[in-house]
Amino acid sequence: MGRDVFYITTPIYYANDVPHIGHAYNAVNTDFIARYHRLRGERVFHLTGTDEHGLKVQRAAEANGVSAKEWVDSLEPRWREVWARLDIAYDDYIRTTEPRHYDAVAKILQAVRDNGRDDIYLGHYEGLYCVACEAYYVEADLLEGALCPVHERPVESFREDNYFFRLSAYADRLLAHYEAHPDAVQPETRRNEVLALIRGGLQDFSISRTTFGWGVPLPWDPDHVTYVWFDALTNYITAAGYAGDPDRFSSMWPANVHSIGKDILRFHAVYWPAMLMAAGLEPPTQVWAHGYLTVGGKKMSKTNLTGIHPFELVDRFGVDSYRYYWIRHIAWGSDGDFSWESVVERHNADLANGLGNLASRVLAMLGSYFGGVVPGSDEPGAEGDLPAVIADAAARYDACMTAVELQQAVVAVWSIVDRLNGYLVEREPWKVAKDPERRAELAAVLYASAESLRVLAVLIQPIMPGAAQRLWEQLGQPGLVVDQRLPAAVAWGLLEPGATTFKGESLFPRVDPE
Ligand code: MSP
Repeated sequence: MGRDVFYITTPIYYANDVPHIGHAYNAVNTDFIARYHRLRGERVFHLTGTDEHGLKVQRAAEANGVSAKEWVDSLEPRWREVWARLDIAYDDYIRTTEPRHYDAVAKILQAVRDNGRDDIYLGHYEGLYCVACEAYYVEADLLEGALCPVHERPVESFREDNYFFRLSAYADRLLAHYEAHPDAVQPETRRNEVLALIRGGLQDFSISRTTFGWGVPLPWDPDHVTYVWFDALTNYITAAGYAGDPDRFSSMWPANVHSIGKDILRFHAVYWPAMLMAAGLEPPTQVWAHGYLTVGGKKMSKTNLTGIHPFELVDRFGVDSYRYYWIRHIAWGSDGDFSWESVVERHNADLANGLGNLASRVLAMLGSYFGGVVPGSDEPGAEGDLPAVIADAAARYDACMTAVELQQAVVAVWSIVDRLNGYLVEREPWKVAKDPERRAELAAVLYASAESLRVLAVLIQPIMPGAAQRLWEQLGQPGLVVDQRLPAAVAWGLLEPGATTFKGESLFPRVDPE
């Protein structure tokens, strides 16, 4: 594992177009994991970036009448603006066109070339190529003998001299690696898929091209540029300091988690560890493959999913609701369906009527009965089972995050929302408030309620950082909620009596289904 840090990566996204909700799906969930590890007090390094070379990008540039470099330079800010608005707290943004990356690609290529086993050799390639995948196919893989199985578009026939990587020599070592590290590919179904692929026999793959120039030249034969995967995958070691900073590299590598979509599993769980082994480097600790989004039950296409820019949703529901939806709605690892109806439903049920309403009721009562000042509690036991429910939820949350069961992690946190709602129904502070003799009871019940909200603010921060901070401030808490650490911050009773609360704007305004 990353030795001194929790090192987690997203894939680098193709800079042929702007992000759509499928890309942002990966980014949000990966950010949730990274934020949770920070909350637990770990040093985290969260890497994202753009994959800027290759034929796909070059063709997008040509279609827009600009050079490839101009094209990727114009797109990079379009990706960053989305991550900024989605509160994606990455620590580094890598572009494959950066000098540090050219250095790392040259270094790994040379290391493999010089490893004494002839693992990179010159050959000829004649094959069927899908530009959208940036991958060659054999005819048996194609739909109706002619279409790419992923994109259902015609493949193209290419013939050229290529350098090859001797993947075929790595089957046994890969199998031994996965046997020794049963968690190295998750979830289980994906691990089985990878094992089957390896057992089915591995073919050497082409790593260089001569028919286009938009890539990193091979150090020993600059007429060739590296083919997309040797370039793209290497980003993960570039950012860890592979080429320029050996100390940093040895403290960072191997990465803890490569978070990817299932479509690029083969490259991450077969090609990449073999490439690293060939270069004398350790494979990543874990590759975590999530499912694919469909839209209204249909496979994504230009006209549906890729037509939906994340801002279309964020403008209507807010960024916190956006993040919550993707984490809560689809089990990380399974395919899942997006629909506008389901976004509205989750927003109104779980957030506006759920957590949002709960917070505004408690804050309103604190305002009306105690002038907004958190009262002291001197009725022992008035908090009922809330501390136990919180301790249990925090423990389940932690276990789910360790197991990368992100949806269930949210469910665990929501058990506090549900219990606090139940507690208020049982204790009826609005009735207690009518009896001046029950002032101490009123204070104790509202203290317990506000304290539970404080804990909720801490726990929802990795999911909805903006809403968490607003709730934190409404509860009169100093500083930033993001600076809180587990488990200390969820100990019962940290809310100081005397803090000044206010019922600010609703955390999640209800959205009209129309
Ligand atoms: N550039 C390569 C990855 C190189 S990583 C060394 C690439 N880029 S991509 O832009 O096509 O995809 C980036 C990520 O977005 C992938 O993990 C992919 O699975 C994810 N998604 C793209 N469309 C998606 C959906 N419809 N649903 C879920 N994830 C999707 O592949």
